[in-house]
Amino acid sequence: MIEKLNMEDVLAMRSDGYYSQRTAGAKNAIDSVLPIMKEAIKSLPQTEFLRFADFGAADGGTSAALWAELISGLRKDGNIEHIELLYTDLPSNDFSTLFKTMQGMHGDPSNAYQIQNENVFVHGCGTGFHRQLMASDSLSLGFSATAMHYVSEKPCEIEDHVHMVGGQHEERALFEQRASEDWQKILLARASEMKSGSQFIVLNFGIDEEGRYLGHTGGHSMFNKFTEHWRALLSSGNITQEEFRKATFVQHYRTLDEFKKPFNNSESPVSKAGLRLKHARTQLTKCPYQKAFIDSEGAMSPKQYAASLIPTMRSWSETVFLSALSSRSPEEAQSIVDAFYNSYEAEVAANPDGHAMDYIHIIMVIEKE
Ligand SMILES: C[S@@+](CC[C@H](N)C(=O)[O-])C[C@H]1O[C@@H](n2cnc3c(N)ncnc32)[C@H](O)[C@@H]1O
Repeated sequence: MIEKLNMEDVLAMRSDGYYSQRTAGAKNAIDSVLPIMKEAIKSLPQTEFLRFADFGAADGGTSAALWAELISGLRKDGNIEHIELLYTDLPSNDFSTLFKTMQGMHGDPSNAYQIQNENVFVHGCGTGFHRQLMASDSLSLGFSATAMHYVSEKPCEIEDHVHMVGGQHEERALFEQRASEDWQKILLARASEMKSGSQFIVLNFGIDEEGRYLGHTGGHSMFNKFTEHWRALLSSGNITQEEFRKATFVQHYRTLDEFKKPFNNSESPVSKAGLRLKHARTQLTKCPYQKAFIDSEGAMSPKQYAASLIPTMRSWSETVFLSALSSRSPEEAQSIVDAFYNSYEAEVAANPDGHAMDYIHIIMVIEKE
């Protein structure tokens, strides 16, 4: 029996480890910031105990190796401080898989740092990251990956597309305004939580200097493909016009300038709260599924490639389409959404050229004075 969806589930990743098992690219992006995190670990503020936080962690699987390496590195270097790791996400998140992963009961047991190290305490917080989530002046190191492109609420539906990247000028402006207010709230909340001298390292989906973004780096554009296949269901009478427009991602891809804006003015609330942007850059992470397909030199068929690529898109996007169908029975909604992904998969299988999901991240190191 499929449970009925509520609005909050629109943002949710698929549970039971489905998310992290099918998002190799998100893990690769996280692994790429290990050197920056190691640097940050070297200059942690002096404290009675260490509190780390992973904001918008989903089931924790994609960052488990990073935290395992950082914590074992600290212990190897003789650090014996108590370490508290606070994972945050929305209340609907699959925290159960997360806790099991860290205790070696799920996923790769080599990352079960909680049972491999003394005095490491794993906590969960189900409150959104636009608010302060822990005691003031208590965070030694903050981290967040691929999560803060989710805006706190949808400012409007995108009428003729599924994502703000394909929205009309006025629609994009509304998303930009919401994202700008959210970014300030996120930063002010972190400023309250962070200890003086601590860092917040955040990698976020965004739009790079060349106008590239997730699934839009040359070749087919993934969000256009989502729109085309969703519109085909409208044309064939399988979904209504209202259902078409309701499938709007609650996301905004900020540009580098949008991310930097609160730091550029010394009189801004963020600057006054003591936050400084130490470093910001954009990064492309190649689609690991396309890479595996190309590297296979024909051993992997286009059909197999399509069957590996579509689930990675589905792991984070499915709830958007399911929630657009919330007036239908869960079984009917699921069968329409299955047809939607199946038609995209069939297109990729028929001709895989130009289909991929490269990641574009904006990586920032933020410090509290
Ligand atoms: C694409 S996943 C990224 C998960 C993981 N950090 C990674 O990089 O693989 C985005 C996560 O952000 C969470 N999220 C979205 N809005 C949030 C909010 N306001 N507060 C906390 N988490 C949020 C989602 O529930 C989801 O688990």
